[in-house]
Order: sequence, then C-alpha cells, then structure tokens
Amino acid sequence: MKKILYSATKPTGRLTLGNYIGAINLWRSMQEDYICYFAVADLHSLTIDINPNELRENTYAQLATFLAFGLDPQKSIIYVQSHVKEHAELAWIMSCNTYFGEASRMTQFKDAKAKNKNISVGLFTYPMLMAADILLYDSSVVPVGKDQMQHVEICRDIAMRFNNKYGKTFVVPEGIVPSVGAKIMGLLDPTKKMAKSGDNDNDVIYIEDEDDVIRRKFKRAVTDSDNCIKYDPTNKPGVSNLITIYSCMKNLSINDCEKYFEGKGYGQLKNETAEAVIEVIGPVREKIKSLLSDKRYLDEIARLGAEKASSIARKKLQLVYKKVGLML
Ligand code: TYM
Repeated sequence: MKKILYSATKPTGRLTLGNYIGAINLWRSMQEDYICYFAVADLHSLTIDINPNELRENTYAQLATFLAFGLDPQKSIIYVQSHVKEHAELAWIMSCNTYFGEASRMTQFKDAKAKNKNISVGLFTYPMLMAADILLYDSSVVPVGKDQMQHVEICRDIAMRFNNKYGKTFVVPEGIVPSVGAKIMGLLDPTKKMAKSGDNDNDVIYIEDEDDVIRRKFKRAVTDSDNCIKYDPTNKPGVSNLITIYSCMKNLSINDCEKYFEGKGYGQLKNETAEAVIEVIGPVREKIKSLLSDKRYLDEIARLGAEKASSIARKKLQLVYKKVGLML
C-alpha cells in the first residue's frame, strides 16, 4: 500500500525558484511512490490583505505551474483548497484543540506581528487550517521547505493530542525537507528567505520571469568582497546561496560545485547559475503560458481534483464530528 503525501502552496503571489527547489521539485520526485495531494491553498492567502483579482489569477497560475513542472492529475490529486469545504470545517475543530500559548509561539505569526500592527485573527489560526489540510487525508508525509517545518510540528502535536483525547482518529504526519535547498535565500538580501510576497522584485526569481530578467537579477545578486567561491552560509551567505541554487539546478553535490568553480570569479558563478536556472525553468514558463491561455482546462482539472479530494475529506470529517460529539 502506498503512503499518502500532502503538500500545498499559497497563492499570495506567483511561484518562485525557492518554491520550486524547496517543494515542487521534491513533490515531483515523490509522485510515483506516494498517493499525492497537491493543493493551491487559497484560503490561507486570505490571512493577508490581498486583491481579489490577483488572488484568482495567482490561483490559476499556481495550478498551471504545478502541471507545467510535471505534477500529473492522472497520478495525483491536484485541487484548490476552497473547493473542498471540509478544510474550513475541520480547521474549526483544530482551533478548539490548540492551545493559545502554542499557537502564539509560531515564528511566522510572531514575525508578522512584529512587522505589522493590523494582522488578522486568520493569521493566528493559520497553522490550524494547515493542520486540517494535512489531517483530512491521513497523510503520513509532508514535504516542505524549512520555513514550514514548525507548522508541520504543531500539526503533529494537535493530531497526537486529539488521538489521546478521542481515540485514534488521525495519522500523525512527518515533515521532510530537501537535503539541499530547504531554504533558498533572497538574491539581494541573502540573510532572508526568498519570498513570493517580498518587498523587492529583484530579490526573487519568479518561475515566470523571462530569460533576460533572470540574467539581470543574478547579475545584481549580492556576494562579498573576498572573491573566493566557497560554501559557507554563515560567513558567505550570498555566494553559498548561488552555489546551492546551481547545485539544485544541475543535480550536483555542493562539493562538486565548489570544485567546479574553484579559481573562477563571482561573475562566472552568477552567469552560470543564471543559465542553469534558465535551462530548467525556461521550458516550464512556456508551458505555463500555454496552460493559462486555456482556463477552462484548468477549471476542469481543479474540479476533478476537488471531487476526488472531497470524497475522502467528507468521510474523515464525519468521523471527527462523531468523535467530538456533534449530532449527525
Ligand atoms: P508557501 O506558499 O509559502 O510555500 C510553498 C512551499 O515552498 C517552500 N518554500 C521554500 N523552500 C525553500 N526556499 C524558499 N525560499 C522557500 N519559500 C517557500 C515552503 O516551505 C513550502 O513548502 N503554509 C504553506 C502552504 C500550505 C501547506 C499546507 C503546506 C497550506 N497548507 C499543508 C504543506 C501542507 C505555505 O505558505 O507555503
């Protein structure tokens, strides 16, 4: 019996090279060995102030990007979170089984709170919705980038607590991160994660960026002044980030990349990394464009995915409602 894998991206922007390296690339490699659920987590996007048209367009674009990277709706269940209403319903039960204290310790929430006074209650309950996503399908594996690991951990805690209180209901999932590239950093500020909703577009490579834009962004990438190509994330965050990206694009170990670039200059590191990225995402960008020109096809993929997901989710939610004592 194949195990179940769950993961998602949230359409607060267009997908980035970080999303590809930290998540989608790993999903694709696991697709054959697991029963996979891949969702566009649009409900999670509502936790921030987002323009409705942009949200809708990003949702289509993320679906198209999944398909363009080779996630296959014949093999995997690909859908949009809000199309399966059980996510929001189970999230309420999850919220009622999460302590205020543990939710307050989530780094993503604390960071957002430190930056912005007007944050929503939804941002606070975000991990409970994410726990609902994962637990609805008996998922045992959740491949994510490093930044989402804390949310998978709290999901595990909630699942174990619920099972102890009400009897075995949920599979306790495990989070996994890629061995290289679990946290791709920004090109201009390599001490911070490359993020799709960042402040500066030049910090981020979007999957849909044109070749020239990619070349220009890498040219401007921040390095350091000692002109020595060595992997040392603490002292050389910019150079190490470029080496990591190159290594993931070429499927080479960090060690082999260091050897390859030995004695070469930063200009060459930037150029070759840009070309390696273009080689991987160039063809994908063209496929995304073509998929986005046929929204009816994307609607149909989403509809079929939601149909399959709903039939599983409905049963799990019924079980949970029964366990907690709701009248059915
Ligand atoms: P999101 O949309 O922020 O990111 C999607 C995936 O990409 C990973 N990632 C990165 N990995 C490496 N380097 C980076 N710079 C980088 N930026 C992002 C993220 O870790 C993530 O794996 N809450 C989730 C979406 C979600 C989800 C879920 C994930 C909703 N429900 C259930 C797993 C299971 C999020 O905001 O991802």
